[in-house]
Formats: sequence, structure tokens, C-alpha cells
Amino acid sequence: MKIAILAGDGIGPEIMGEARKVMNALDLPDCTIMEGDVGGAGYKKHGHPLPPETLDMAKAADAVLFGAVGDPDCDNLERHLRPEQAILGLRQALGLFANLRPATMFPGLEDLSALRPEVARAIDLLIVRELNGDVYFGEKAIRTLEDGRRQGYDFMSYAEDEVRRIAHAGFRAAQTRKKRLTSVDKANVLETSQLWRDVVIEVARDYPDVELSHMYVDNAAMQLVRDPGQFDVIVTGNLFGDILSDQASMCVGSIGLLASASLGEERTEWGTKGLYEPIHGSAPDIAGQGKANPMATILSLAMMLRHSFGREADAARVEKAVARVLEQGIKGADLGGSAGTAEIGDAVLASL
Ligand code: IPM
Ligand code: MG
Repeated sequence: MKIAILAGDGIGPEIMGEARKVMNALDLPDCTIMEGDVGGAGYKKHGHPLPPETLDMAKAADAVLFGAVGDPDCDNLERHLRPEQAILGLRQALGLFANLRPATMFPGLEDLSALRPEVARAIDLLIVRELNGDVYFGEKAIRTLEDGRRQGYDFMSYAEDEVRRIAHAGFRAAQTRKKRLTSVDKANVLETSQLWRDVVIEVARDYPDVELSHMYVDNAAMQLVRDPGQFDVIVTGNLFGDILSDQASMCVGSIGLLASASLGEERTEWGTKGLYEPIHGSAPDIAGQGKANPMATILSLAMMLRHSFGREADAARVEKAVARVLEQGIKGADLGGSAGTAEIGDAVLASL
């Protein structure tokens, strides 16, 4: 099992340290662990947020465990040198087009939700976000018009094959859950979304066991806070998925608990090659203080074991260990508790 560990910036190295403790405690077969610099750390050491040696390492690995990128020191760099470009570059270079972002209410944490506990209790959803297309990767620039006004533009597009493959990912995910898929678009205004909807309907013919519905993104944002329990799997484009997944994380209560997987078409010996990361950022304000909650990274490790290495039993073991620690009331500051990074990591180890 070849694993590339890219801890990145801010709290990245701290939370990754705890995930590694958990990895070491599992009875895994031979692992080759490679470590690389990314983000602001990559820029500071090598002059690029995604240095070529790091990209090569990620290409050679079966799976990438990613911490977080983002460094205020780098905010004024040219866009292609900013830390965020590391994750965008990896998604694109590795063809990781399917981003799985589960948001599930942990029992006992309902009070942390931004929603009323009785509304939050029912949340058990998965956002399947397209990651390789949309307005993120279209032609973009700030240009000067003939009359001298500046204009910013970003070209939004989806080709049918791009929609088809993410639609399949959405349907397949729904088949493993409650068999309900909501495709989110803005087909009342955008041609990109009209094509999206048409293609999703075509793909639906292959999945008669999944109940498909369509929702405009503005309505989806509203429904997500009104009655999030209605959703099982949501499949959507890159930009809408970016926004809705942050929103879903706050409906659950703690962004410090949510993991994600980014998968492509490349297979490993045991599953699908992927990149796994917590959905939170680098939190520079608390970096280096031992305060960050490592649970989302530990849960990302679990997703890696499941999807890239076919180790469902280990994945479930890690997830149960985290749930048990939460039940014991050991919580980080993000959950209103006082446990530090290492204390949480050690508690997960003990629970394992
Ligand atoms: C995310 C992040 C990234 C995105 C940023 C850091 C480029 O917000 O993974 O959701 O927009 O995709
Ligand atoms: Mg985001």
C-alpha cells in the first residue's frame, strides 16, 4: 500500500500527526509512506504550492492523505502560486472528478448544529460533487473592455461525458444507501445546467432502483436548512457542491468532524485511487497550539482504507472508535469541549 501524506499548512501537520498514530495502531499490511510539501509550505520550500516532486509522489501513490492548505502569508501571491492551487492541481492532474462529502449527525451532538436539534437529528446525507470541471476550470481572466472598464469573467461549461461519469457516481452511491438521488442544478437559467439535467435523466435509465429528483440550487440551499432529513444523496456540479457542502457541514454542527474522498477512474489493487482530506481548512489562527480537532483527518483515513484499500473492517473500526470518543464526551474546542489535538488522538487510540 503506497500512501502519500501531504500535511500542508496551518493545523495540517498537527492533525496529520494524530491520523498517523491511528494508522500505526492498525494492523495494516506493508505500507510505503511518502511525505511531501504542499500549499504555502510547498511554496516556501520549493517556490510552488504543488512542487513537481510532490505531484510525482501523488501520482505514484495508491492514495493521498491530505491535511489542509491555506496560508495568510501567501494571500497576495499571483493566483497560480497560492496554496489553494495545490489541491485544485492535484484534483485535475490525478483526474479526481468525484468528491464524496458525507454529512451525518453524530448522536449527542445535535445541540451544536446551527439548526434546531429536532431538525438536525435527521441529517444523514452524502454530497457527490463534481471536481474537475465547471466554472472552476474554464477560461478566466480580468480584461479591459474597449471603453476602458475592467471585466472579470469565468467560463462555465460541462461536457456530456463529464456529467455522465459524475451522474454514475451519484447513482452508485445512492444504491449503497437509501436509493434516493437529488440532482442539483440551475436549469431554469443556465444552459450548462440544462445539459446537466438532460444527461442525468439519460443515466437514470441504468438505475431503475434509484429514485431521482431534481432541485434548483437556490431551493436546495433553502431545503437543506428547512428539512435536511429529506436528502439521501445529492449530486451536483463543482461550484454548487462547494457551497452546499460547507452549508451541510454547519447543519451537522462541526466542520471539524467531516471527512471527504476525491476519486477518479484509476484503480488500485484493492479499489479506487483517491485523495482523502478533512473538509475544514488550515485554520491559521489556531495553528501550532495543539487545539485543532484531528477527527476529520482520522475519519478521512477511514475513508481511504475503505475506498482505496478495500479494508472495510478497519474503516468501520476507526469510525466506531471516533464515535465512542465523542460519546465519552471528549470534544475539541470546535465542539464546545476542551480536549486538545493529542488528547483526542490518544483517546481514539485507546478506543481502538
Ligand atoms: C473545498 C475548498 C476548495 C474548493 C478551495 C480551497 C480551492 O473550498 O475543497 O471545498 O473550492 O474546492
Ligand atoms: Mg469549499
